Amino acid sequence: MGFTSPSEMDEIFKEDSERAKELKAFDETKLGVKGLVDAGITQIPRIFHHPPDNFKRASDLGLKDYVIPVIDLSSIHEDPSERKKVVERVREAAGTWGFFQIVNHGIPMSTMEEVLDGVIKFFEQDDEVKKEFYTRDQSPFMYSSNFNLYTKAPTSWKDSFFCNLAPNAPKPEDLPSVCSDILLDYSSQVMKLGTLLFELLSEALGLNSTYLRDMCCNVGVFAFGHYYPPCPEPELTLGTIKHADVNFITVLLQDHVGGLQVLHQDTWIDVAPVPGALVINIGDFLQLISNDIFKSAQHRVLANTVGPRVSLSCFFSQAFLPTSRSYGPIKELLSEDNPAKYREFSIPEFAAHYRTKCMKGTTPLLHFKI
Ligand code: OGA
Ligand code: NI
Repeated sequence: MGFTSPSEMDEIFKEDSERAKELKAFDETKLGVKGLVDAGITQIPRIFHHPPDNFKRASDLGLKDYVIPVIDLSSIHEDPSERKKVVERVREAAGTWGFFQIVNHGIPMSTMEEVLDGVIKFFEQDDEVKKEFYTRDQSPFMYSSNFNLYTKAPTSWKDSFFCNLAPNAPKPEDLPSVCSDILLDYSSQVMKLGTLLFELLSEALGLNSTYLRDMCCNVGVFAFGHYYPPCPEPELTLGTIKHADVNFITVLLQDHVGGLQVLHQDTWIDVAPVPGALVINIGDFLQLISNDIFKSAQHRVLANTVGPRVSLSCFFSQAFLPTSRSYGPIKELLSEDNPAKYREFSIPEFAAHYRTKCMKGTTPLLHFKI
């Protein structure tokens, strides 16, 4: 690799300042990607162009065995041997793929349909009402397009909202009226499901059922509602860029459109929509405290000519809560042959590192690696 010559540098700065101007103009519309589509664009603006990706797709290679496991939870309360089978599947999925889907998880289909409808209603409500929620400042409900718009990360073909759900539930009046009731209802059901999932994950690590709960993994939850408008040139951009989730686990509800992919052995695998299912993925924190027994897998969402696609992801995370708790590899999982791969850190230390040193798209795990 050679040095960048002064004239090449000028070119890069010029491109950067052009890009900055275009980003600002886009941000100021407060209508996000949906605003561009509503205006009838047929070519996507340059800010959305992404560099090509070199990984292969399982669907192109005909790798039919690469399927994210779908685990039926209906039998876990029957007899212990049935529960053991489920726990074994969870262990296998969390350790191999970092992703699995669950069915018969206790959240009614009607609640799932209504909450996705609530997400659609938020993004498709009157523009002037929606703009009132557009902000990049801390607030109980934040709507914008691309939370990291002004960083070097490529701009994605989606609009999103963010809100904290637990431990402090938002006041209904802080949420948009078109979806406040159903968001709160769904949130309380996801909290209950979280308790069950952390039991199964504890058992999958060979620990007692309450272990991860006792570590407060189920205490903090925040939600992202994503709206992926149809895209006229989907091959030039992405709905969500490649990333891993910085949390313990994510409970993701996706609609029927598809496009979510997991990177597994340098190959993109589709997480095909399954009616009634929720997608569960392991985040960086659970990979760390499990000392790499569980995997936090990178994933992305393709852009699509079909749309909109909507999803709602609930992050179980302590990362940004005012707690002084420390986390490190779970002692019971370590031995002379299996020493700690990460050092212990406190949540304030993690938060400071993440805000200041962690480039978007790089994993904070490396920083704590021994
Ligand atoms: C996320 C995410 C995937 C989706 O919110 O971190 O990966 O399907 N979402 O929207
Ligand atoms: Ni994610």
